[in-house]
Amino acid sequence: MSLFTMFHTKAKILHRLLQFRHTFRCSPSPGQAPYSRLVLGIETSCDDTGAAVLDETGEILGESLHSQKEVHLRTGGIIPTVAQQLHRENIERVVQEALQRSGVDPSRLSAVATTVKPGMALSLAVGLEFSQRFVRQHNKPFIPIHHMEAHALTVRMLQHVAFPFLVLLVSGGHSLLAVARGVDDFLLLGHTLDEAPGDMLDKVARRLSLIKHPQCSTLSGGGAIELLAKDGDWRRFNLTTPLGHVHDCCFSFAGLRSQVNMSIMKKEAEEGVEPGTLLSCVNDIAAATQHTVASHLTQRTHRAILFCKANGLLPSDTPTLVLSGGVASNQYIRNTLSSITEETGLRLLCPPAKFCTDNGVMIAWNGVERLREGKGILPPHVDVRYEPRAQLGVDMTAEVKAAAIRLRSRKKIPK
Ligand code: KG4
Ligand code: ZN
Repeated sequence: MSLFTMFHTKAKILHRLLQFRHTFRCSPSPGQAPYSRLVLGIETSCDDTGAAVLDETGEILGESLHSQKEVHLRTGGIIPTVAQQLHRENIERVVQEALQRSGVDPSRLSAVATTVKPGMALSLAVGLEFSQRFVRQHNKPFIPIHHMEAHALTVRMLQHVAFPFLVLLVSGGHSLLAVARGVDDFLLLGHTLDEAPGDMLDKVARRLSLIKHPQCSTLSGGGAIELLAKDGDWRRFNLTTPLGHVHDCCFSFAGLRSQVNMSIMKKEAEEGVEPGTLLSCVNDIAAATQHTVASHLTQRTHRAILFCKANGLLPSDTPTLVLSGGVASNQYIRNTLSSITEETGLRLLCPPAKFCTDNGVMIAWNGVERLREGKGILPPHVDVRYEPRAQLGVDMTAEVKAAAIRLRSRKKIPK
C-alpha cells in the first residue's frame, strides 16, 4: 500500500469515527464526563410533575419537581381533572428548570424519556403531549417509559445491582412483586387484587381526619400514619392480616380498610363523637393499621422469596430484594421486611425516600438504561399512545398460586 493510500484510509477511518461520535455522543462541557449521552426524563403519571437531565453514568445534571400533594390533601383525594390542570400549568416550567439547572441545551440531548403507562389517563396525556411536541421541535428520539419499570430500576442508578433481583413496589397506585431480569424483562409474581397500600393508608388517614392533627396537616396519609404510629400500640386493635389462607403472592387492602373503618366507627360510638372528630386512640389505630400492612407485605414477600429460591430465579451469589415506591419510605415496613430478608439470606436495598416517590430522575434513568441497550427508542414522528392500565412483565401469578407455598408462622414481632 502506498503512503498516499495509507494516509487516505486513515483519514477516512478518523472521519468515520468523528461522525459516529457526533451522531451518538455529545460534546462535553467543562466539569462534565466526556462524551456522555444525555437523557431528559419527564414524569406526569399521577400527581407529581417531574423532569430531570441525566448523563449515562446516572449523574443527575439538573432536576425539578412540582408536587400537587397540598392541593389534593385539601380536596380530600386526587381529582383527575384538577391533577391534569396542575400538570398543564407546571410542565413547561418544570422541564425548563431541569434543563437550565443542568446547563444542557435541548440540542445536546440524546433522547427524551417520558412515562406513558400505567397511570391516570388525564395526567399521562399532559406529559405525553408535551414530550411529543418537544421531540418533534428538537428532532430527538423518544423513549416511552413504563412507570413501574422505572421504579424497579432506580436502584441501579445509585449502586451496582446486577440482574436478576426481586422487587417489591408499593405506592399510592400499585403493589406488586416481580423478578427484574433485564431492562425490559420482568416476571410478575403478585399484584394487588383491589387497592394499593398507599391508597388505603391515604383513605384511612382521611377517615381519621388526620389533616386536623397539628403534626400531620402537611403529611401524606402514609406519612401521617407512620408518624402517629410511633406513639401507638398496635396490640390495642385486633386486625386480621389479609389473605392469610391464600397461598400466593397477591395483595388485598380493601378488606383491611373495612376492618379499620369498623374499628373507627366502634370507637366513635364508645367516645360519643361524630365522624370527623380526632379520636383519642388515633395513635393506636395508626399503629395497628401500619403493623397489619407491614405483616401482609412481609408474608407475600416471604413467599415470593421462597418461590424464587425453589425455581432458581435469583442468583445464589448476593440475592437481592429491592423495595421501592412511596410506601417504601416507611421505616416500620422496611424493618419488618428486613427481618425476612435476614432470615432468608437476601440483601435488602431501598433507595432513599426522594427516589422512592415519583420523580423525573427515575424516568430519565430508565431512558438511560434503554438507550444503553438500544431498546424501545423511537424516532420523533412516531405517534405514541398512553395506557392507563399496563401490566408489568410476564404474568406468573398462576404458577405462584399453584406452588401453594406455606409459610411457617413467625413468632418474632418487630418493635
Ligand atoms: O410513589 P408515590 O409517590 O406515588 C404513586 O402512588 O405512584 O407514592 C405515594 C404514596 C401515597 O399513597 C402516600 O401516602 C404513601 O406513598 N406514603 C407513605 C409514606 N410516605 C408516603 N406510606 C407509608 N409510609 C410513609 N412514610
Ligand atoms: Zn409511582
